[in-house]
Amino acid sequence: MVKICCIGAGYVGGPTMAVIAFKCPEIEVVVVDIAAPRINAWNSDHLPIYEPGLDDVVKQCRGKNLFFSTDVEKHVAEADIVFVSVNTPTKTQGLGAGKAADLTYWESAARMIADVSKSDKIVVEKSTVPVKTAEAIERILTHNRKGINFNILSNPEFLAEGTAIADLFNPDRVLIGGRETPEGQKAIKALKDVYAHWVPDDRILCTNLWSAELSKLAANAFLAQRISSVNAMSALCEATGADVSQVSHSIGTDSRIGPKFLNASVGFGGSCFQKDILNLVYICECNGLPEVANYWKQVIKVNDYQKTRFVNRVVSSMFNTVSGKKIAILGFAFKKDTGDTRETPAIDVCKGLLGDKAKLAIYDPQVTEEQILKDLSMKKFDWDHPAHLQPSSPTTSNKQVSVVWDAYEAIKDAHGICILTEWEEFKKLDYQKVYENMQKPAFVFDGRNVVDANKLREIGFIVYSIGKPLDAWLKDMPAVA
Ligand code: NAD
Ligand code: UDX
Repeated sequence: MVKICCIGAGYVGGPTMAVIAFKCPEIEVVVVDIAAPRINAWNSDHLPIYEPGLDDVVKQCRGKNLFFSTDVEKHVAEADIVFVSVNTPTKTQGLGAGKAADLTYWESAARMIADVSKSDKIVVEKSTVPVKTAEAIERILTHNRKGINFNILSNPEFLAEGTAIADLFNPDRVLIGGRETPEGQKAIKALKDVYAHWVPDDRILCTNLWSAELSKLAANAFLAQRISSVNAMSALCEATGADVSQVSHSIGTDSRIGPKFLNASVGFGGSCFQKDILNLVYICECNGLPEVANYWKQVIKVNDYQKTRFVNRVVSSMFNTVSGKKIAILGFAFKKDTGDTRETPAIDVCKGLLGDKAKLAIYDPQVTEEQILKDLSMKKFDWDHPAHLQPSSPTTSNKQVSVVWDAYEAIKDAHGICILTEWEEFKKLDYQKVYENMQKPAFVFDGRNVVDANKLREIGFIVYSIGKPLDAWLKDMPAVA
């Protein structure tokens, strides 16, 4: 029986291993983590992450060929294939701070693998890492251990949160990079055999190590670049009277451009895009390519501009001040169908409004009060360092902020509503009732283009939708970005 161990029971390690266990009943899969609460949650009825379809897959395999454990060393020692899926956040201090990937967690995992291994192993980079990381990991693994063979593979993960299980069941491709030696090719084949249980042969791409590592950063950079491109267009649409949805549809019908990932928004969030682009920028700078670095940096700058532009629009529309005014924040997660708030645009928007002394009532169906208050008090880039590995966990309460468990409660007596996550329920609210319960004039700022703006205008709202023709009111109060 092949034994797999995955270090890191997070958003990637958990779902990925659950699907491998589900599709490969003859393989034993153990997911290990140093965070005991996370492992306890994986072993309970309340999984640590919300992901549609995940509960079912876990329930079908857990205790049969899928296990979650904190006994990291034992399971690594016993495994034939070790996936490493620990976090690789942006460095907060020292050389490359604010850009480079922090490989502390990866390095400590690699050292532990070297220490406890007593048999040959394939070590798989599942985390997103800078190109050439495999070389450094190889050095750590082979430094102290004579007689044990380690083969490193790069097998980056392309799942998106909210659709992780569907993405894993039916991936566009699985990418495996390895050394171009006979041993490297043998290792590639062993991992390919795992995925071949359910992924068609032509969707399993095999490359050299560096192409696989770089392809992951490149894919995220290209995806984020599309969003910044459409968001840049959204500003021009507002200035000219064009409608960004119509523009997206028109350009998306060109088969060379394609229709996906062209939704204008308040900005992209999530744990990957910003971190991976900053990492790419740093790698370009280190390789003496400042022009290439500047090109990709612009994707982040436009994203920051979009969030600032949104805040400025809210404040300027409401007579240039939101001081003491209640603003309902609908949605805090970085996208729908997840409770993940890492790098969510809601953090920057809320902080911007709080900076102008607004009172916020925040509602998200999947995010807890504790998480929201923590996010609003954390410094940039601290979010992806696991709380248990930080010196202190900065949870503060904030009198300007209340977190409520119902959209109508958030909206009651509010002057304005900001929709920051595209949860389906926000489309279905009774907006007549909402209007009656708000201060007048009642504003809706739709950062995800989910509401029918014209219907809301008929009710009496002043509506701002990203990239759409502006109300007369908003035209008269131009936002300064
Ligand atoms: P996460 O923070 O949810 O999970 C990482 C886990 O690793 C944490 O539970 C942490 O406790 C554990 N960990 C850290 N150091 C450890 C160690 N030495 N031993 C054992 N456990 C350790 O992170 P994630 O979202 O799953 O991301 C993991 C990696 O996958 C990152 O490199 C990320 O860029 C990449 N990735 C993420 C996504 C996504 O959608 N979240 C998608 C593709 C790739
Ligand atoms: C992303 C990549 O899609 C995935 O392949 C990779 O493995 C991890 O990073 P994720 O961040 O989970 O996945 O979600 P994604 O669907 O890409 O959305 C990222 C952000 O972009 C969200 O805030 C989303 O709301 C925003 N977005 C997405 C837009 O603003 N417009 C779009 O058209 C698409």
